[in-house]
Amino acid sequence: MSDSIRVTGGIGLRGEITVRGAKNFVSKAMVAALLGSTPSTLRNVPEIRDVKVVSSLLELHGAGVDYDHPSGTIDIDTSTLVSADAAHIAEHAGSSRIPILLCGPLLHRLGEAVIPDLGGCRIGDRPIDFHLEILQKFGASVAQGADGLHLTAPNGLHGIKHTLSYPSVGATEQLLLTAVMAEGITQLENAAVEPEIKDLIDTLQKMGAIISVDTDRSITIEGVTRMHGYDHTALTDRIEVGSWACAALATRGDVLIHGAQQRTMGTFLNVFRKVGGEFDVRQDGIRFYHPGGDLRSIALQTDVHPGFMTDWQQPLVVALTQAKGLSIVHETVYEQRFGFTNALNAMGAHVQLFRECLGDRACRFGQRNFKHSAVISGPTPLHAANIEVPDLRGGFSHLIAALAASGTSNVSGIGIIDRGYENFRDKLTALGANVE
Ligand code: EPU
Repeated sequence: MSDSIRVTGGIGLRGEITVRGAKNFVSKAMVAALLGSTPSTLRNVPEIRDVKVVSSLLELHGAGVDYDHPSGTIDIDTSTLVSADAAHIAEHAGSSRIPILLCGPLLHRLGEAVIPDLGGCRIGDRPIDFHLEILQKFGASVAQGADGLHLTAPNGLHGIKHTLSYPSVGATEQLLLTAVMAEGITQLENAAVEPEIKDLIDTLQKMGAIISVDTDRSITIEGVTRMHGYDHTALTDRIEVGSWACAALATRGDVLIHGAQQRTMGTFLNVFRKVGGEFDVRQDGIRFYHPGGDLRSIALQTDVHPGFMTDWQQPLVVALTQAKGLSIVHETVYEQRFGFTNALNAMGAHVQLFRECLGDRACRFGQRNFKHSAVISGPTPLHAANIEVPDLRGGFSHLIAALAASGTSNVSGIGIIDRGYENFRDKLTALGANVE
């Protein structure tokens, strides 16, 4: 498949699409299957590259993975597992950071685990210090090898009390996946409580785990000695829904997204309405549309749940280039998530970046020389350009910009978008976009 797409913009996206399960849940639920001694079934699984990556990582460890694309059902048999070496894990993981989350389950099932050098999107340092600290506290020994980190648990894994300095999604998942079968009780404070994490907790509970979540970001887990497989339907990908909604807004279009769930989108829907977009929540999805007239500028900051997701920021910024006045967006989750705005400026947008925290509160990045606040002045007509996409969300946002721009853009490096947007080429065509 070609790695670039030609987009002739200026046409409002119109029509219906379906969005399936959340990338950032499905990958973790597949890892959770490693904890079960009987097979698991995950439903509503999208056909995206990250699912292929996790499938191949599970297979590398001896699991049987059977994915039926049309129905979105994946069966995972982890009754027999084997260890794998770092080079093979790295080869199968590609740029994904998933291998780190295999550690807890593999330590429980096999007594050892390996973390190769990790990739992921280029959106900041993305360290793994929280993960390693948690694993070591549970009792894991970590040794640096030439090919990566080697973990063992010579005395087993035991429950811990832990407070996260920041409510990291991955670190919360790491703790959950390790604590459920660790001996004794684990208490986590300042946990991430994203809907994807709630769905992971529900999945683990189906497998036999005992987990209680309090209203104050604290989670308590009572370790169990045995877990079994699950049958679970993944929640919808709210990042993908938000991305297509922003595409509808930026192109003055009208898109019905089957599968979109209001309960996971509340903060996004408020912002969408404030900037002048309209939506109808229906039984089977949400219709997002531009009602005509001017879009309005807004000031917002990204945050952990229930705040405005960092992953919605990039698509929204493209729509804000079409809003009247000055918008301010303060990115507080990743220190370097505005790199994609260079391409927008080259297309005629007016986005200025600042090192200061331009929100109503200071964040961790304020005094650290990162350009993590953006001021967008609009509306600015966008014109076509040749763009090389930088990362998953930035890449999709470039696609939105090309769809909103006049003229024909060449967007290359789009393979990266397949990591998290199912069949996006077909969806573009279904929505009437002029793409080749
Ligand atoms: N952090 C650390 N140390 C760690 C881990 C995280 O300092 O050991 C910092 C990060 O550098 C970042 C912040 O904590 O500044 C938050 O990172 P978090 O751990 O919450 O993110 P993640 O688990 O690595 C997941 C999603 C991201 C999403 C974030 C925030 C997956 C596979 N990835 O990342 O999704 O942006 O949570 O919601 O679940 C994407 O889908 O494009 C994507 C980047």
